[in-house]
Amino acid sequence: MTFTAADTGIPIPRGPSSPTREERHPLMSPENSKQLKIAAHRVDKWGQWIGILLACFVLGLLAQAAMQRDIATLGRGWYARLLPPPLEPVLTPLQQQLMGCRTFKNEEIPFVDETASIRVLDSYTPEQRQTAERFTAAVAACTNFTCLQRANKLPRAPGQFRYPHFYILGFPKCATTSLYCHLIQHPQVQFPRQKEPHTLNMQCSAPKMECPPEVQQEYVTQTLNLDEAAASMFTRAAFDGSTHYAAEGHYMAERLKATFPWVKVVISMRDPISQALAMHLHNLSHNRTDVCWEESGKRIYPCIAQDLEDVTRARYGPRVAKWMEHFSTDQLLLVQYESVIAKGPSMAEDLQELKGFLGFDLHLPSDSLPLTNWKHNRGGPDAIGRYWNMTRSEYQHLVDLARRNAQEVIQLMESSGRAEKQQRANWLRNWENVWKMNLDDNCEAGPDGNCKIVVS
Ligand SMILES: *[C@@H]1O[C@H](CO)[C@@H](O)[C@H](O)[C@H]1NC(C)=O
Ligand SMILES: *[C@@H]1O[C@H](CO)[C@@H](O)[C@H](O)[C@H]1NC(C)=O
Ligand SMILES: *[C@@H]1O[C@H](CO)[C@@H](O)[C@H](O)[C@H]1NC(C)=O
Ligand SMILES: *[C@@H]1O[C@H](CO)[C@@H](O)[C@H](O)[C@H]1NC(C)=O
Repeated sequence: MTFTAADTGIPIPRGPSSPTREERHPLMSPENSKQLKIAAHRVDKWGQWIGILLACFVLGLLAQAAMQRDIATLGRGWYARLLPPPLEPVLTPLQQQLMGCRTFKNEEIPFVDETASIRVLDSYTPEQRQTAERFTAAVAACTNFTCLQRANKLPRAPGQFRYPHFYILGFPKCATTSLYCHLIQHPQVQFPRQKEPHTLNMQCSAPKMECPPEVQQEYVTQTLNLDEAAASMFTRAAFDGSTHYAAEGHYMAERLKATFPWVKVVISMRDPISQALAMHLHNLSHNRTDVCWEESGKRIYPCIAQDLEDVTRARYGPRVAKWMEHFSTDQLLLVQYESVIAKGPSMAEDLQELKGFLGFDLHLPSDSLPLTNWKHNRGGPDAIGRYWNMTRSEYQHLVDLARRNAQEVIQLMESSGRAEKQQRANWLRNWENVWKMNLDDNCEAGPDGNCKIVVS
């Protein structure tokens, strides 16, 4: 018999010597063979349908990928499944954070010797070793604030820090990210698991800063990175860098002091106009609706004027006053953005002052602070944030408001004996220079002349 594909009648070519199915298999009777043919026919039909469906599916995928202009990615996706995964270097959690700290994407991740701090342990006497171990065991066992309060009262060996050791409280847009990145490269600093957890204002209820037990547990063990800090026997100082805490000073200053009485806190401030402008740019570039900006027909001046009057943001005085009330000079450090980012001796001096204040080696990881997150410097010459349009008299009014805010800060420093006369004068001069530079270089003549205001 001729073996044909049932429906089409096309004979299946068969060499003279090749056996028929019946010949190959003794059990294959003509009757069996007939049933097999019917089954083959069914399979064939189903096969066609499945083929068509598969083709449609693949076409659909291709069409979708094409719409997303994603064919290359799709190709790589298939390819990747066929090949063993590429050998990508496995980044440590610290390196992952440092990736985000680079100013340019092609920059190398800096090397941080994560074991440097524990070398101090080799210098301990047996008694110091015992003290260090006792402190470590007590703190490492904590999962709540009450436990930390008790454990942190125990004596420590040289080079050990209480847990947590410090806070960078804000203000946002005042080089806090650059400071964070500088500090996590310091061998005596324990990087936190999260850069800006904002646990204490977002997950603990104001005004008492009451944190539920599960929040405390997460914060103590995970967020602040208890395991890694304990592994260094607390020779690396743990911290929280949530930049919105400063503006919550009206209740948080008192509560943080009551919760962790030993912590050191750092507040950075920038020319109030520049800070407010940078905050608006942050909102706009993160697609957050900026109510004032929308309502004013995208005129920035009324929004900044409003911010400089508002006690919660660019008007630092009332909030900083609260932090000063509860944290003495050896627990609160004020940093000025314009001074710490200036390419001159002030950068190194300010960084050393910060590290001295926190009790770290002054010269590590370096004496310079590369700026990360410098959004207003990106895009074309007219990109939003490169400069801000307003009239000279509008800017002059903002300067009057900002100068009043600056005076508030200077007076607070003076009354609390925080800074030498010279330092206070420098502080004010740095901000006056920003205002003068804008008025002199970036404004057209006359009160209605247009200004292209840039931030410090
Ligand atoms: C806090 O933690 C300690 C030790 O882990 C535990 O003994 C204590 O009961 C906890 N206290 C509260 C208030 O949860
Ligand atoms: C930025 O957006 C947030 C959330 O929408 C808003 O609360 C805040 O006031 C805005 N900041 C400024 C400076 O407009
Ligand atoms: C904001 O929206 C634009 C346009 O819709 C988009 O291209 C951009 O990725 C968005 N940016 C962020 C940070 O979400
Ligand atoms: C500033 O105003 C000029 C003139 O009206 C306009 O061409 C320019 O796009 C504006 N720039 C920005 C950043 O708003």
